[in-house]
Amino acid sequence: MPAPTRLVVLVSGSGTNLQALLDACADEAYGAQVVAVGADREGIEGLTRADTAGVPTFTAKVKDYSSREHWDRALADKVAAFEPDVVVLAGFMKLVGAAFLDTFGGRTVNTHPALSPSFPGMHGPREALEYGVKVTGATLFIVDAGVDTGAIVAQTAVEVRDEDTEQALHDRIKVAERSMLVDAIGRMAREGFSVEGRRVRFGG
Ligand code: GRF
Repeated sequence: MPAPTRLVVLVSGSGTNLQALLDACADEAYGAQVVAVGADREGIEGLTRADTAGVPTFTAKVKDYSSREHWDRALADKVAAFEPDVVVLAGFMKLVGAAFLDTFGGRTVNTHPALSPSFPGMHGPREALEYGVKVTGATLFIVDAGVDTGAIVAQTAVEVRDEDTEQALHDRIKVAERSMLVDAIGRMAREGFSVEGRRVRFGG
């Protein structure tokens, strides 16, 4: 069996997407391994989940650096120390910058709780509800310099219900989002992937 694809996962919160990846990686046949988990803050459940799984962790807090650029460089260096093949932003609430993308561009993915190109930014579920769409979902994309603008790897649709609150909708999106993430990262690991302009394809 080929060596597993090395994943570094970056988190800022509860880390349920991270947990889904950790669970999937427990099966050797999945083809990937979480080699480290990084965060932009301390004391979050995501880091506890990594500790429990025996995965090394690190933090890089913006306020510990003299500028956003220094933070971005430091984050890239900390991630690079674990020699990832793919970096997964899983609920990571910071935009990575030029230095990070110089090193990891084209192999950093992020998951967003809306169907891109609709509702980019921090409030995808709320804005979908306010707009009145009947279908929303989640998008996995290759990170570029924009906000949730990168080439799309995978999407999953979720029906909006009349009685939905922002929380209820986001919770339902997250269920679909986790399966999408696990499925797509597994395929990237086992089959490889290519990015040509806005088109992402699985396969060598
Ligand atoms: C996910 O819905 C992600 O798309 C969004 O924040 C949520 C993170 O959830 N940016 P978790 O930390 O993986 O539980």
